[in-house]
Amino acid sequence: MATTGLYAQTAKKAVKKAAAAMVKDIDYPSYGGNKAGNRYMPATQINKKNVKDLQVAWTYDSGDNTGGRGNDWQYQPIVVKGVMYVVTPRSKLVALDAATGKQIWIFDPTVTGKRPGGPTRGVTYWEKGDDKRIIVNYGFVIFEVNAATGEWIKSFGEDGLADIHIGLKDNEVWGADPQKWGMRNTSPGAVYKDVYVVGSSMSEGQDAPPGYIQAFNVITGKLLWVFHTIPLPGEYGYSTWGPDSYKKIGAANDWTGFVVDDKRGIVYASTGSASVDFYGAIRPGQNLFANCIIAFDAKTGKRLWHFQTIHHDMWDRDLVCPGNLVTIMHNGKKIDAIAQATKDGLLFILDRVTGRPVFPVKETPVPTTPALPGEHPSPTQPIPVLPKPYSMQELTEATITDRTPEAHAYVLERYNNSLHVSGASKYMPPSEKGTLYFGFGGGAEWGGTAVDPKGIIYINSNNMLWWQFMVDVAKRDALAAATPGSTLFNANCASCHGSNGGGANNGDGAQPYPVLTDVGSRLTRVQISTLMETGRARMPSFANVPKADRDLIIDFLLHTEKNVPAASANVRRQTTPYSPAFQSNGTRQFRDQEGYPAMKAPWGTLNAINMNTGQYLWQVPLGYYPKLADHTTGTENHGGAVVTGGGLLFIAATDDENLRAFDTKNGKVIWQYQLPAGGFATPASYMVNGKQYVSIVCGGGRYGLPSGGKLLTFALPDKQ
Ligand code: HEC
Repeated sequence: MATTGLYAQTAKKAVKKAAAAMVKDIDYPSYGGNKAGNRYMPATQINKKNVKDLQVAWTYDSGDNTGGRGNDWQYQPIVVKGVMYVVTPRSKLVALDAATGKQIWIFDPTVTGKRPGGPTRGVTYWEKGDDKRIIVNYGFVIFEVNAATGEWIKSFGEDGLADIHIGLKDNEVWGADPQKWGMRNTSPGAVYKDVYVVGSSMSEGQDAPPGYIQAFNVITGKLLWVFHTIPLPGEYGYSTWGPDSYKKIGAANDWTGFVVDDKRGIVYASTGSASVDFYGAIRPGQNLFANCIIAFDAKTGKRLWHFQTIHHDMWDRDLVCPGNLVTIMHNGKKIDAIAQATKDGLLFILDRVTGRPVFPVKETPVPTTPALPGEHPSPTQPIPVLPKPYSMQELTEATITDRTPEAHAYVLERYNNSLHVSGASKYMPPSEKGTLYFGFGGGAEWGGTAVDPKGIIYINSNNMLWWQFMVDVAKRDALAAATPGSTLFNANCASCHGSNGGGANNGDGAQPYPVLTDVGSRLTRVQISTLMETGRARMPSFANVPKADRDLIIDFLLHTEKNVPAASANVRRQTTPYSPAFQSNGTRQFRDQEGYPAMKAPWGTLNAINMNTGQYLWQVPLGYYPKLADHTTGTENHGGAVVTGGGLLFIAATDDENLRAFDTKNGKVIWQYQLPAGGFATPASYMVNGKQYVSIVCGGGRYGLPSGGKLLTFALPDKQ
């Protein structure tokens, strides 16, 4: 018997091996690799033994490297039937031969007459018979092109465009003049049959409309359903807000994408915080469905279940990446699960049918004082018992940097002078004094998580402490120096550029926003005016601010402000439904005097967690700062990983601009390659004509590094 079994096994293996050898093409058809968001490529051709021979097979130069400030190219390629679809840093859509990099067609979306709205992380492929389309989110519109020819499909929507403002129609305040509100979409939507589900992104300030989740028909572009992430009166969840919250505030949006369980027809959304970031006086309650994983019937938009990862968010803890659909063995039972990583280092593993946690989640008491006047902090927050967090949770004196004695002293002084209790709890309410906490930028980030079929999840993560300052708006505006121009500037621009343009850091860990106090020495009135109208990279358009107000802001910046009646100030604030009493006055990364993170290394890590048991396989530093002698610190990282059947994990994402291959067994780096610019994006891997490739876009431009515009594709050399 035993012999027969062994023979049978060997035979089975041989058949499997032969089948693997015959597979010539493996697509990478979706953002996240597949609809489950696994970022997994089964091919075994590139493996631990031969990865050392990996070389550049072809390079595509988008021609979009404008140099200077950030390209912010966060794009993850998709590959279908030997064709790669890429969106360039300046939003052009190109189809490339995935084996050679040769351009097949190019589509320039400026012909739509619309503008891009920040980086595009991905596009969506859809097909039915011979009808094959690429669906693109572009600014606030959706358009489609023929996947074979690159032709714009004009029968979709109105003259080829569907506008995501349409979902606001059910809200009497935000829907009265929907075009007035800035909306865009930086991540792709997801398809289930003919249903295209999309999210949105908006400012997260007082002008942010609600981020309803919507579905459009892929063929007609008609709106199919809208889900109110901030419920309207009478809808489930309405009582978790103030009675008027839905009219006054917005966001609670899914800006990061979706995953789909095709078999069950369920689409999963991951939402962000409600506006305004950092101050929730107007929204008492838990605030469903902000900061939630939500399961929908993809056809109807009916909510099946939800799970909230932060109650009443005061820290901008958006869910930054889509969930990851996996099957694990837990206590001897097979469970179809969804794994959701968060900005603040937690991993929630839920049954994907019921939404119930696989490992217990504890409602844990958190600090609620001192909070800003009017605020209603949640007394508890949900924390999973397992797995343990993959990023730092609290800064204590013991974890302050020991890089040099000077750095330690510098950080300690500032630490002692900031708001924190018993360590900088990541749940400390925001304050005017400055509150220290983790989990404003990741933790996990938009690059997402990778999973292999064994149920191991790979998460790259940051240990970055943030120093967040609030300002009392009335007090600020009453200062003698406040003029109509500065008031307008502070209402519209200070959240990024700091009060009066003095500078502040941004949210996701990229380079600081430009200081504008001396902008007149660099830019003319016309240049500033154009920039405010069009926006650029992460600078949004302010075309919706009345022209007279924009002129006042320019006068303020150029120090040419004349005496203008104060009545014309505050216009923007009167045109938004609500003006918060407190506003963010900037959020900085808490760093030492030489610009390195304020806590002990590692500052960036790669983690492998066995989701069957909730235990870590390994945690290793990810990347290094070339200027530091210690190459084991890890760095801030943005961009995700792809894991392969060959037991490898490919990731760039770090300050040192390398693409690396890790051994998934033990977290050892077994190959690395210096990219022409930082790869702040997620690689893709695919197979064409029997050859496996790994591709990544190299946009650079983060962390003060130079920009780039090339996509590199690697493969093993052909056998001699
Ligand atoms: C969401 C963040 C954000 C907000 C809000 C914002 N900006 Fe910007 N701004 C940026 C970014 C990012 C850049 C750099 C753009 C680039 O990389 O090309 C920038 C660049 C600029 C520049 C060019 C600076 C230079 O030295 O080239 C000016 C001028 C400017 N912003 C003015 C404004 C004004 C005026 C407002 C308010 C009406 C505003 N910004 C609001 C993010 C923002």
